Amino acid sequence: MIKPFIDFYTKLDVIPTHQDISNLRTHFDRRRGLYIQLGIPPLFVKGRSVLEFGPGTGQNALFTASLGPSDYTLVDGNKRSVEKTTEVLSPYAKRIPIKIIKKDILQYRTKKKFDLVLCEGLIPTQLDPASFLEHVCSFASPGGVVVITCMDSASLISEVLRRYLAFYECGPEVEVNERIAKLTAFFKPHFEALPGMSRRHDEWVIDNIVHPWTGPLFSIAQAIEAVAGRFVVLGASPNYMNDWRWYKKIIEKEASSVSGAEESYWHNLHSFIDHRFVLPQREIKSNRRLLQMTDRIYQRVHGQEKTGKKYAMADLSRDLKELNALIDLPKSRVSVALEEYRKALEGYRGTWPKFREFSALWGRGQQYISFVKL
Ligand SMILES: C[S@@+](CC[C@H](N)C(=O)[O-])C[C@H]1O[C@@H](n2cnc3c(N)ncnc32)[C@H](O)[C@@H]1O
Repeated sequence: MIKPFIDFYTKLDVIPTHQDISNLRTHFDRRRGLYIQLGIPPLFVKGRSVLEFGPGTGQNALFTASLGPSDYTLVDGNKRSVEKTTEVLSPYAKRIPIKIIKKDILQYRTKKKFDLVLCEGLIPTQLDPASFLEHVCSFASPGGVVVITCMDSASLISEVLRRYLAFYECGPEVEVNERIAKLTAFFKPHFEALPGMSRRHDEWVIDNIVHPWTGPLFSIAQAIEAVAGRFVVLGASPNYMNDWRWYKKIIEKEASSVSGAEESYWHNLHSFIDHRFVLPQREIKSNRRLLQMTDRIYQRVHGQEKTGKKYAMADLSRDLKELNALIDLPKSRVSVALEEYRKALEGYRGTWPKFREFSALWGRGQQYISFVKL
């Protein structure tokens, strides 16, 4: 059976998840900031048991280890990840009981429950993200925290449109290493327009363009629905939520309610398309329509890559016009960027023009959400 991530990474012999940690302090600042947005103060981790799924290169685990957990178990199915994580965590190996296990996460079993379960960058595009999440959640102690990441077609629309450019610029028929090199050069102006990018450019191309993205995406709303009744939402990054409930009313049914977090997601979805702006909330039904449209574009771009069924430029152009109408911000930079992209589709004669506006359009790609087990 096909194994998302593992098959692709093993075949290419890569772990495309290195973070720039040349300045360790900056790396730790970023991780601390993320944990705090997720409602996890550093002292919560000290003396607690931690389980991490899919550590990749282990650089994020370095921060977690620095917080002094009582024990730290990491599970990854890629041999190179296990080796690299072992090397990266070696400074902590004498102080903390660290277990690094090479195993398919879905096959991993233990009776032990953990205070903190981390699963970053690997649930969306699994074959069945909801049951993968169920498995991950099964290791949390009551009162413990689970952290996962989500992606939806709205937050990813800029990436999906880049995949479309890449398909014509240097398609899957090209030898993979040549493709990676060419596309890394092609997208350079786009990377330069994204302040704070801490990933290697070639690895971004591997993970976001060349990676087949096997299974479906998995949105915050889908994750919340999957755990409803057994977990409540602790935090998110970006923190899109408003919770104005009076704590004295968070009792009985309300004590296990996740509906506020889910509604906030729908009210704010249009702010996930362009990371530069936070827009006023809007009606849920407008954002449901927006997601239907981005889902459709995603399916067709993905379908073209998977089955070769053409997504004609004229069709994408029409879909983008509709998308712009649904975003409903005619003078915004996102609309200008999508309009520029549409013109490029209409004028395409074998080469793409320079994208002045679209190169700077980056969405909120992957979001984090943390849950507390009831
Ligand atoms: C995209 S990387 C994320 C790495 C890191 N957590 C991060 O966020 O930078 C996904 C990692 O999960 C591992 N992985 C994905 N699916 C897995 C599975 N079913 N079993 C074991 N490991 C898996 C991959 O080998 C890889 O190391």
